[in-house]
Amino acid sequence: MAATPKNLKLFIVTYLHVALFSTCTFINATDVTWDDNGYILYCPCMGRFGNQVDHFLGSLAFAKMLNRTLAVPPWIVYQHNSHPFTNVHVPYSEYFQLEPLKKYHRVISLEDFMKHLSPKYWPQGQRVAYCFESAAYRSADKKTCPMKDGNPFGPFWDHIEVDFDRSELFGGLSFSSYYLPNWIKRFPPLEHPVMALPGAPAQFPVLEEHVGLQEYVVWSDRMVQEGEYQINTLLTRPFVGIHLRIGSDWRNACKMLHTGDTGPHFMASPQCVGYDRKTALELTMNMCLPDLSEIQRAVKLWVKKTNAQSVYIATDSESYSAEIQKLFKGKVKVVSLRPDTAQVDLYILGQADHFIGNCVSSFTAFVKRERDIHGRPSSFFGMDYPGRKINEEL
Ligand SMILES: *[C@@H]1O[C@H](CO)[C@@H](O)[C@H](O)[C@H]1NC(C)=O
Repeated sequence: MAATPKNLKLFIVTYLHVALFSTCTFINATDVTWDDNGYILYCPCMGRFGNQVDHFLGSLAFAKMLNRTLAVPPWIVYQHNSHPFTNVHVPYSEYFQLEPLKKYHRVISLEDFMKHLSPKYWPQGQRVAYCFESAAYRSADKKTCPMKDGNPFGPFWDHIEVDFDRSELFGGLSFSSYYLPNWIKRFPPLEHPVMALPGAPAQFPVLEEHVGLQEYVVWSDRMVQEGEYQINTLLTRPFVGIHLRIGSDWRNACKMLHTGDTGPHFMASPQCVGYDRKTALELTMNMCLPDLSEIQRAVKLWVKKTNAQSVYIATDSESYSAEIQKLFKGKVKVVSLRPDTAQVDLYILGQADHFIGNCVSSFTAFVKRERDIHGRPSSFFGMDYPGRKINEEL
């Protein structure tokens, strides 16, 4: 194939980019310098991927606030029904690029921290755990942080071969910026260079002020390739992507709506009812657990509005493919891939021409945040126009 000048230029630019990028990676891996302002290490020990990302964004903000480097932990993937039947620890960079995070704040992967910095600066015998007094109170001597108690805590630190030698407790503090002076005073970096925490120094769901940090969470080249391949092979644009969160665990969770025990916010619901508890819109059962008729209604509406040629379904249990197919008398292609890696679903949903998610789900929240950043439209089951009351929608 003869290269036109334009192609050639593209080739050279791409080649240079790859060459430069590889050089950077090489330098980073072999010449990691110690940060005198210290480090934050934590276990993403609460929930599955969606929750872990919410916590990650908050932890990134916390590290920046304290001006400490964040050691970016691997994702914990729970594979109890398939090989290897234990937790898998997937490095951040498998799914996302580490470099874009550095535009916001200093980071190092936890793996690189362990490999390049811990032998000299955080050796065995000097590893201190930091936790709330209330957490330590559950231990036998009431003074030890429960860093490795149970799953996923134990396996996480075992994975990077870390045991803790002693504990530092704190109380009367929270991770909000209000307490910044207290943190600095209580744990100056020279005396407390590496702060390892049992959980994320962040809230769930992610605070409104940190939602925009999703901008720095950029897919890895490998994920882009895989996702684009699936889109090109399976789907015709425009396409509507939907996230069905309807499995048995979720059914049980949504039952709490009936009892009224949830308060104005329930899990990731601030993304659609609003962050302000006083003005939060009502969370309906259709928003938490859409039934088949609501799923059909919403899909039909958005397929029509966007003139979609195909529908992509990501689901935690059944896909309702046949029922959705029937709606369009075979004129719209309906696809559910059920990938081994849930992140492929996330990538595809992020690229859809319209996305319908579950307001209460943090898996949906990941997609919604990413789409917002790129100006792509999203709605929720039970709420076609996010932030507007149901009867105000027209
Ligand atoms: C933050 O930490 C960096 C790296 O250690 C340092 O160069 C910088 O001066 C610190 N900034 C402040 C405001 O302390």
